[in-house]
Amino acid sequence: MSYVSLRRVHRPSIQPFLTGAVVGVLITVMLFTATSLDPASINFSIFSSKRETILRTIGDHSHHDHHHKMLNTSLSETLYEKVRVLCWIMTGPKNHKSKAQHVKATWGRRCNILIFMSTETDHSLPAVALPVIENRDNLWGKTKEAFKYVYENYYEKADWFFKGDDDTYAIMENMRYMLNDYNSSDPIYFGFRMKPYVSQGYMSGGGGYVLSKESVKRFVTEAIPNPEKCKSDNTGAEDVEIGRCLEAVGVKAGDSRDTEGRSRFLPLFLTDLLIPGAMDSSHWFWQYTYYPFEAGLECCSDNLITIHYVGPYNLYLLEYLIYHVQPFGIGYSPTLTSDNKTVYHNLTEQNKTVDKHKP
Ligand SMILES: *[C@@H]1O[C@H](CO)[C@@H](O)[C@H](O)[C@H]1NC(C)=O
Ligand SMILES: *[C@@H]1O[C@H](CO)[C@@H](O)[C@H](O)[C@H]1NC(C)=O
Ligand SMILES: *[C@@H]1O[C@H](CO)[C@@H](O)[C@H](O)[C@H]1NC(C)=O
Ligand SMILES: *[C@@H]1O[C@H](CO)[C@@H](O)[C@H](O)[C@H]1NC(C)=O
Ligand SMILES: *[C@@H]1O[C@H](CO)[C@@H](O)[C@H](O)[C@H]1NC(C)=O
Repeated sequence: MSYVSLRRVHRPSIQPFLTGAVVGVLITVMLFTATSLDPASINFSIFSSKRETILRTIGDHSHHDHHHKMLNTSLSETLYEKVRVLCWIMTGPKNHKSKAQHVKATWGRRCNILIFMSTETDHSLPAVALPVIENRDNLWGKTKEAFKYVYENYYEKADWFFKGDDDTYAIMENMRYMLNDYNSSDPIYFGFRMKPYVSQGYMSGGGGYVLSKESVKRFVTEAIPNPEKCKSDNTGAEDVEIGRCLEAVGVKAGDSRDTEGRSRFLPLFLTDLLIPGAMDSSHWFWQYTYYPFEAGLECCSDNLITIHYVGPYNLYLLEYLIYHVQPFGIGYSPTLTSDNKTVYHNLTEQNKTVDKHKP
């Protein structure tokens, strides 16, 4: 797997994209610069047709590839309607072109609503200018303003509210699949759970975290206005501070691991976690992980939801590997039960070749 060198992980390069990726970006830029949007009343019609969103996403690579026509997206379309996720992406004016645009051109399109939170308006993304001074020290202030903005403008339009960074990659279908088992009226949030600072733990900021509707309401209406529950100035580590506020208003830190105990949200790039020894024992990760964690291929879920430290170059690499490459003849066929819970057919008895863990 030489294409993802460990070095590149922390030094994402904006250098040569794959030709296909460049074409994809150009098409996307052409599509989206055509509409001029007022961030206060953003026109999200481009995201409103689920089938269109999902199929266009898959079809970008080649609308006519007959292999893509074999894909059955019906279940992800059902969940797109049923588990609505608004994504807001933490960014800044310097990153609009170099990073945010590439989030939008890749996984960001699969959010039901996608908003970039910045300190300068950018109609093409769209990015919102929050009333905060642009400064790394103000990320906490930005986070509070972002959730206030979302609560005031989009609360009724989504069930779950995901915060990611402009170097996070998210697999939205898997996020909806996990969230489908929970009720967004319950005070709960999910992410990569970390141990220190907050008694129930908190979720890594770069790995992204997703709050239920009820959690957003409590955060904005109960926690933020109360300096005893929530840090009132703008400084501090955004992820720790929101973890404290949420705990103070009774929002539960959820367990996002899969049924095998493998992680679905990743606060680091994949190679650090998939390759035993890639992180030595002094790495901060080992002190921070809330649950026991073993590096190796079993670290991480087949229903992976997020990956952190994904520079623009790797956004396209992941996009291609996750949504286009399909080992021929291997697939799985999940279904919904009558109460809309997802289940996998257990095909082990029928045909062992579908057991993805024992190739
Ligand atoms: C979700 O929780 C709310 C409030 O507790 C309840 O009214 C509603 O019926 C629940 N929805 C489902 C699908 O269980
Ligand atoms: C696609 O998947 C859905 C849900 O699993 C299933 O009901 C449907 O029959 C499938 N369609 C085809 C053409 O296989
Ligand atoms: C399951 O989802 C389908 C499609 O969204 C919907 O029509 C149906 O009412 C749902 N069933 C239940 C029991 O929630
Ligand atoms: C699937 O079926 C096999 C063979 O009957 C069984 O051993 C296994 O426990 C089943 N797996 C699950 C997750 O039910
Ligand atoms: C797996 O599927 C193939 C093709 O349908 C079939 O020929 C083979 O017998 C199956 N193997 C098992 C163990 O069921």
